[in-house]
Formats: sequence, structure tokens, C-alpha cells
Amino acid sequence: MAELMRLSGNDDTDAGAGVARPQAACVGLCAALDLTGQTPCCGPLLLALVLLLLLQAQLLVCLHELRDTLDLVTSATPSGPSNASTLQRLPGAIIIGVRKGGTRALLEMLNLHPDVEVAKTEIHYFNLDENFRKGLDWYRSQMPITLPGQLTVEKTPGYFTAPPAPRRIWAMNPAVKLLLIIRDPAERLVSDYTQVLHNRIQQNKPYQPLDELLLSQGHINPKYKALQRSFYYQHLARWLELFPREQIHIVDGEALIRNPFPELQKAETFLELPPQIKPDNFYFNVTKGFYCMLSAGHDKCLDESKGRPHAPLSNEAFQKLCRYLRVPNQIFFRMVGQRFDWC
Ligand code: A3P
Repeated sequence: MAELMRLSGNDDTDAGAGVARPQAACVGLCAALDLTGQTPCCGPLLLALVLLLLLQAQLLVCLHELRDTLDLVTSATPSGPSNASTLQRLPGAIIIGVRKGGTRALLEMLNLHPDVEVAKTEIHYFNLDENFRKGLDWYRSQMPITLPGQLTVEKTPGYFTAPPAPRRIWAMNPAVKLLLIIRDPAERLVSDYTQVLHNRIQQNKPYQPLDELLLSQGHINPKYKALQRSFYYQHLARWLELFPREQIHIVDGEALIRNPFPELQKAETFLELPPQIKPDNFYFNVTKGFYCMLSAGHDKCLDESKGRPHAPLSNEAFQKLCRYLRVPNQIFFRMVGQRFDWC
């Protein structure tokens, strides 16, 4: 049999060439067996050989087809690591702020959508020069792997207040969708201070009470950084110089806390996603005091840094803060064409 195969030239994978050779192969075989011209032997042998070669040709065609099919299946499989269809893509939507507005909750809740993949950590690419210098390929390499048609979402609340961020994001993609989650800027300031305080305590660094930072000789201190971050209209003005208003979706942070589903529905519409997030993706966790998420049997609450008790601030200072923010808030409401129930 080995001799038969060798003579039929089976190293040639071209099926057509395999079919054209039986005659020569048989003559060669008869010669090898010293039977050339002896018809009684060569007749049935020739027939058997032809059949064998036809079978071999058929087998080769089948093998070709099988290999092509396997190639096709492999290139369409979503999870293959060397797959060209699964890629890290630049974000189609960015949550730009505000710091302590509920940005993590919004990101995690959007991630419930099957067509959304999110960058797990804050990238700080457009606000920090040392990251921006690393270039767009570095930024892309920080993104999650997505399938074609999936939306990549990143959140870095520091973008909202960083002067170069709007211009840099616009240069990356002027059509990128922007989400801005806001909350009462006075509450936001206290939450902002609480986070800084927490970090300083953890690092054994000294800290000042909030009243001291916020008030200077009994008046609101406009130089206090956390206060400046609460002047929403000033920051938004920079974004509106480049992006049309309808490209920035405002999410009401307080409404998201009270009942996440309606805010998520609006966000789905803005992001042009098919409605997939359902009311039963959320349940109120009494222990946490906030809504948590449910998806495919998994239960997820945000960590303890979200929704922690706020640092103390005297009622007098808080009232001064509310009065101080009244005009900036009015300007912001006019800018966005929407009012919010803030202090
Ligand atoms: P507080 O810690 O002041 O309560 P960010 O993610 O931008 O840092 O925002 C943190 C804020 O998200 C928290 O502020 C909390 O109020 C708010 N938040 C909104 N929805 C939440 C949720 N489901 N679980 C926990 N915190 C939530």
C-alpha cells in the first residue's frame, strides 16, 4: 500500500493533479511488479488503482473544504485572543465629571448593557500632561477589549475641570458622546472634602476642618479648590466652546441615587443603544443605603468609598455656601436649559 501511495504522488495536495495520474501510476506499478503487458493482472489492478486514486482525490477536496470552514469559524469567534474582530477601541462615550457626582455608579450601571464595555479605572489621559504625552496608542491600550458594535466608555471626572481636556478630546473625536453627571454643588463640595480628608488620614497627613478651608474671616473663600470645582457653569463654558449642547448629556446625580432606572433609560437613548437595561437590574440595598446592581445572578454594590458619611460642616457655613452658589447655579441652569432642586 505504501508503494501504491508513493507512486500515486500523494504529496501533491492539488486534487486535479491527483486525478490526472492514474494511468502512468499503474504502468509504473506493473513495471515495478514486472507485469507490464499482462492484461489479466493489470486489468483489475488498474481498476482498483483508479478507484483508489479517485477516492484519494475526493478526500483531498474534502480536507480543503474542512480547512476553509475551520478558518472561517475561527475568524468569527469573539473570544479568540488573536482575533482581529476583538480590539481595544477608543471610547465612543466619556463620562467627564463631575467629581463626586456619581460617576462610578453611572459607569457601572451603563456596564449592565451588553453592548457597553467600560474602562475599569480612571485613565486621566486628557487632564494630566504626563499621561497625555504617552500618546493616543497608550490611551487606546488602556481600553477594554470590545466586539464590533460594542461601545467603549471611559470615565475620568477630572476632565470636566481641566482646561485642556475639551480641546484634546475634540481633537481625538469631535463626535464623541459626553456624559456629565451633576449633583447639588454644595453637597458635592462636602463630598469632595470628605474624600480628600479620608486620603489624608490614611496617609497620616495633617488636615484642616472644612469650616476653616471654606470660610476666611467669616466669608466664603473663593480660592478654595473644592469650591471652584463646584462652579459648574465656568467649566461647562469651555466644553460648549467646542461641543454642541446636544452632544453633552446631563445626568441628574440625585435622581440616579433615588431611582437609577429612569436615568439609565435616558442615557441609553442618548448613547443610541437598544433598550436592554431593566428595572430589575437594580434593587435597594438597605444595609448600603443605596441601589445595587443585579445582572445574570450577580449582585454588585459600589465599594465603601461611595456613599460614606460626610465630614462635619457647621450649619451656618453650609447656608453661606448655598447662598454663595445661588448665582453660579442660575447661570448653569440657563446654560443647560434645565433646573435642578439644589439648596
Ligand atoms: P457620597 O460618597 O458623597 O455619598 P463618584 O463616583 O463620582 O466619586 O461619586 C460618588 C457618589 O456617588 C457618592 O457620593 C454617592 O452619593 C453617589 N452614588 C450614586 N449612586 C450610588 C450608588 N448606587 N451607590 C453608592 N453611591 C452612589
